[in-house]
Amino acid sequence: MKISIIGAGNVGSLAAMRIAQDRLGQVVLVDIVKGLAQGKSLDMDDARLFFSADYSIEGTDDIAKIKDSDIVVMTAGLARKPGMTREDLLAKNAQIVKDTCLKIKELAPEAILIIVTNPLDIMAYLAFKITGFKRNKVVGMGLSLDAARFANLIAKDLSVSLSEIEPLVIGSHGEGMLPLPRLTTVKGKSLLSVVGKEKADEFVKRTIGRGAEIVSHLGNGSAYFAPSAAIADLVKAIVSKDNQLRCACVYLEGEYGLKDIFLGVPCRLGKNGIEEIIQLELSDSEKQLFSIAANSLKAQYKYVQI
Ligand code: NAI
Ligand code: 2OP
Repeated sequence: MKISIIGAGNVGSLAAMRIAQDRLGQVVLVDIVKGLAQGKSLDMDDARLFFSADYSIEGTDDIAKIKDSDIVVMTAGLARKPGMTREDLLAKNAQIVKDTCLKIKELAPEAILIIVTNPLDIMAYLAFKITGFKRNKVVGMGLSLDAARFANLIAKDLSVSLSEIEPLVIGSHGEGMLPLPRLTTVKGKSLLSVVGKEKADEFVKRTIGRGAEIVSHLGNGSAYFAPSAAIADLVKAIVSKDNQLRCACVYLEGEYGLKDIFLGVPCRLGKNGIEEIIQLELSDSEKQLFSIAANSLKAQYKYVQI
């Protein structure tokens, strides 16, 4: 399995390390900055003894090295700075994603593409349109991270084990994120019934603001430890289908009454990428919020020229 990661910044390089350490495949790490991916790869290579792992990571500034990859992870782009919304990143990152996706289409036409660059939902849509890949082969990583954050905040506050929480988050990886307290379970019971609406709303608010909270502390750059873990988790799901439900950003073709849009929903992944999209029974108010998130995303498509 050849897994290429484009962008050797915080998220891309740590994702490369995790994927290699978990022995998911042979890793190629690419960055436009000369020497960056090469230097980081040599450093990661030197850790092989400590992990007793014969992994292979090659660093390069030559995108041609992604040729015939089975999976390509797109993390190239700018990260959020304090006060900057994910949407502010749109124009700059759209150009990077466009240029890179044309190369991916030419060099790795059979790959499954995992998009990470923000604003995630729009970049996934753009990547899908530019590559022309089948919809099961393009997946956006964002909502599994948000679900992990939701679960973490609940587990800490209620002093329960993470293994007893099944978080559900749909919508966009941005302002239109919808953590679902009614359908999220704690020890098999609905979070909403366990903690009540006021407390549930607090968890929702903290989850939506978590990325920005981290940015405000860092002062420069955004989260990468949990994001890189979420990338490795998606790669693992593709490499060794485990049938687990994961929240991910996928192309909807009528599911949830929506068409021609990338939005986050629960799904199952495997060797073909997205293998199943799960249709949740949403309440009227959840449907309404989902539809607001969809409309707000669609309104931004006009800023991305395809
Ligand atoms: P970073 O600034 O540390 O790394 C980005 C890297 O991309 C830099 O090394 C840069 O040289 C490289 N790059 C830029 N243009 C390139 C090109 N054309 N080809 C190859 N490499 C190129 O940023 P970080 O923290 O790694 O974040 C990367 C992206 O991921 C950002 O857009 C960020 O907002 C997003 N992100 C998304 C998350 C999600 O859940 N979807 C979570 C965390 C970050
Ligand atoms: C996050 O949620 C920046 O999308 C990134 O941390």
